[in-house]
Amino acid sequence: EPEPKTVKERSFLDNASNVLTNLLSGGNLGSMPIAEGAVSDLFGRPLFFALYDWFIQHGSVYKLAFGPKAFVVVSDPIVARHILRENAFSYDKGVLADILEPIMGKGLIPADLDTWKIRRRAIVPGFHSAYLESMVEVFNDCTGRTINKLDALLRKAESTGDGVIEVEMEAEYSNLALDIIGLSVFNYDFGSVTSESPVIQAVYGTLYEAEHRSTFYIPYWKFPPARWLVPRQVKFNADLKVINDCLDDLIRRARDTRQEDDVEAMQQRDYSKVKDRSLLRFLVDMRGEEPDDKQLRDDLMTMLIAGHETTAAVLTWATFMLSQNPDKVKKAQEEIDAVLGDRKPTLQDLKKLQYVRLIVAESLRLYPQPPLLIRRSLKPDKLPGGRNGDPNGYSIPKGVDLFISVYNLHRSPYFWDEPDKFMPERFLQAKPSDVDGWAGFDPVRGQGALYPNEVMADFAFLPFGGGPRKCVGDQFALMESTVALAMILQKFDVQLRGTPEDVELVTGATIHTKAGLWCKLKRRQNAGSPHPPEVASISR
Ligand code: HEM
Repeated sequence: EPEPKTVKERSFLDNASNVLTNLLSGGNLGSMPIAEGAVSDLFGRPLFFALYDWFIQHGSVYKLAFGPKAFVVVSDPIVARHILRENAFSYDKGVLADILEPIMGKGLIPADLDTWKIRRRAIVPGFHSAYLESMVEVFNDCTGRTINKLDALLRKAESTGDGVIEVEMEAEYSNLALDIIGLSVFNYDFGSVTSESPVIQAVYGTLYEAEHRSTFYIPYWKFPPARWLVPRQVKFNADLKVINDCLDDLIRRARDTRQEDDVEAMQQRDYSKVKDRSLLRFLVDMRGEEPDDKQLRDDLMTMLIAGHETTAAVLTWATFMLSQNPDKVKKAQEEIDAVLGDRKPTLQDLKKLQYVRLIVAESLRLYPQPPLLIRRSLKPDKLPGGRNGDPNGYSIPKGVDLFISVYNLHRSPYFWDEPDKFMPERFLQAKPSDVDGWAGFDPVRGQGALYPNEVMADFAFLPFGGGPRKCVGDQFALMESTVALAMILQKFDVQLRGTPEDVELVTGATIHTKAGLWCKLKRRQNAGSPHPPEVASISR
């Protein structure tokens, strides 16, 4: 049997013939239940909603057939753990890698296995605790910009009206997250909270195209003339060039300005002495396996795309859920006032902001980013049957496309009490309602980690994936979201402008709103005064 092709080698025709491969391989999955999807299911509402209904109907491992195209949909933690961790190298990222390769090249997400191994070993140590600690300052400064901007708008509204402003918070969070990722990953100030620039527009243009590709059925952009003939492809290539030129320039500068005293301080993990604390500096300075400029650029581009909209989405959905739960806002604000008063948060404070951290985790549970993890089998495998599935499991031939529905796992009625309800406190309960596969679940207190994770939850909670391809920026993103949310709630009261039903949801790589998260914002009265006198406690 020929070896699986790498992403680079897959041609347009290969992709087109994938439909056929799928028909042949996916068409024979033994006793696996089959959900017949109507094409209309692909339109009108996000696909992951339909996948949830079929999960309840057909069980936690089923085959989804859309005409000749077949996918295996997994909504079971044990099966997810098998694919992501136990047998991780029997799968690659399939369709996702096809879509992202033109943007990210050999960055971690689409990279072939050999490149991935080398780059993962180089990048993971970059997110060490001294770096994360020093990034709290960047999170502070950037959120400070958003707050100043909202504050100026409020001042105007207070002098002329009722002191309430209407703000599209999803866009604000997106700008905030872009500024943070630019500064922390490659020491570049997008300044997007306060201004517009061609580079910022190019980043948004590229994200928009990545999203279009992830939802468009036929990969016509692989067909070379599309590059010149299709206007959106022409624009996409121009956008990519703007970002690549900017990144090339930053890499050149980082190489030219290597400073031995910085390297030494970095080696000693003393970031107070490091002038440029970015991840790029670390990747350039910590010489081991020397990456070429193109590889570094792919790494940076991957982190820019992977770390930007995802974090913005967490903040967006946290705000959406909080706006419907004033009692939870009150609890969070009491905690923030008690811990911070009117100060900005430090790393030590984050450890005490337990309720805000759980709000972040609960928002990721209800709105996981991305809602589906995508894989393709590189060789035959045997999947466990999953809950109510065939006890003998299912044989998976080579070339089958799989979706692990994190959305289904996170809202599974088999693992969560009131799965659709926003209850940050749920992570403090000793056990969820069904303990099957959850041995020792005690996510916050028992394990001493700041945030619940997939290992504690035995893969029923997978906000950052799991196994060797787990997100490299998980702690970074969690801390970033906690700082930003705490600082916003410290200063403002946020309400939805309309009803929750008005906020339509769409999905590409992340779940986002169709027309923005329009909110009414007002300044908190007595914000930052340290009340109540004792530290807020979280009821179990
Ligand atoms: C991978 C989620 C923030 C960089 C992943 C995966 C998930 C994820 C679920 C695994 C994908 C898969 O298995 O197919 C998130 C969420 C974030 C976030 C929800 C924000 C709340 C970040 C940040 C960075 C980052 C801030 C970098 C600065 C990456 C990279 C990978 C990845 C490089 C690929 C890892 C590999 O394949 O080895 N992320 N991420 N992410 N994430 Fe994140």
